[in-house]
Amino acid sequence: MKFTDILSTEQFKRSDIELIMKFAAKFEPYAQKKKQGAMLAGKIMASLFYEPSTRTRLSFETAMKRLGGDVITAVGMEYSSIAKGETLADTARTIEKFADVIVVRHPLIGSAREMAEAVKIPVINAGDGAGEHPTQALLDIYTIKKERGKIDGLTIAMVGDLKHSRTIHSFVNLLRHYDVKLIFVAPDELKIPKEYLKKLDEKRLKYEEISDLRLACKKSDVIYMTRIQKERFSNLREYEQLKNSYVMSRGLIEKINPKAIVMHPLPRVGEISLDMDDFKGSAYFRQVENGVAVRMGILSLISQ
Ligand code: NCD
Repeated sequence: MKFTDILSTEQFKRSDIELIMKFAAKFEPYAQKKKQGAMLAGKIMASLFYEPSTRTRLSFETAMKRLGGDVITAVGMEYSSIAKGETLADTARTIEKFADVIVVRHPLIGSAREMAEAVKIPVINAGDGAGEHPTQALLDIYTIKKERGKIDGLTIAMVGDLKHSRTIHSFVNLLRHYDVKLIFVAPDELKIPKEYLKKLDEKRLKYEEISDLRLACKKSDVIYMTRIQKERFSNLREYEQLKNSYVMSRGLIEKINPKAIVMHPLPRVGEISLDMDDFKGSAYFRQVENGVAVRMGILSLISQ
């Protein structure tokens, strides 16, 4: 594969995922602040975040800077020319004159693709609305491999807002390249879109949709929690009714499956209780650290 744009996890074969994992592992000492690199010296990444972000933006920017590259930033639609009515394609054409790679987060599905089609420099999708978040899914796979030593043979539960969570959509797309069993736990209103189940059927992978978190915990090696995505609801009353659907607590996991790994893309807003933080299987802050190494891998592959 030629690593240019990273727009959707649909673009990856298993061998691509493995290559990114290999590259990421190489960059761990840099991500862990033990080494400073110069591989990306002279390169500029444009970081365009038109939706809130802490981890993804700062993780990409850290990855770039610790490998010697530089960053230019536009944050918040209200401060950019998009507020004046500029199209994403024109914004991309402008940024192409400044930067070597574009990382973009935007509320519209397909936004990163729209930019990529307008320019020759690589564009990385850092979250397109309720669409996809490919680099998060890559770091999630990397984290499971690190925590468990493998992906094949595992049972992985996904819990929460499976309808709107772009991290879930991308995660399922990548996991279908492995021999996994998936368990989906969501309120009726927030179930995983059928298209993703269809893709699992095509691969003859086993999955089940259940509503009982305790049962899911019992059966799973990895439990991936998600936030109910408030910003995707047109009716906030519906959000209020659903927001506390599932909560992972220390009492629950210690009793039911103390060996499980618990993941979350963060931010959490109540669905993982604070007493989970020193549970040894809680991997959500380790995911953050792994994210820098994975993004270093991606940026260096793209810049080759
Ligand atoms: C996620 C996102 O933005 O999709 N966060 C992240 O990038 N780590 C998850 C979320 O916002 O719930």
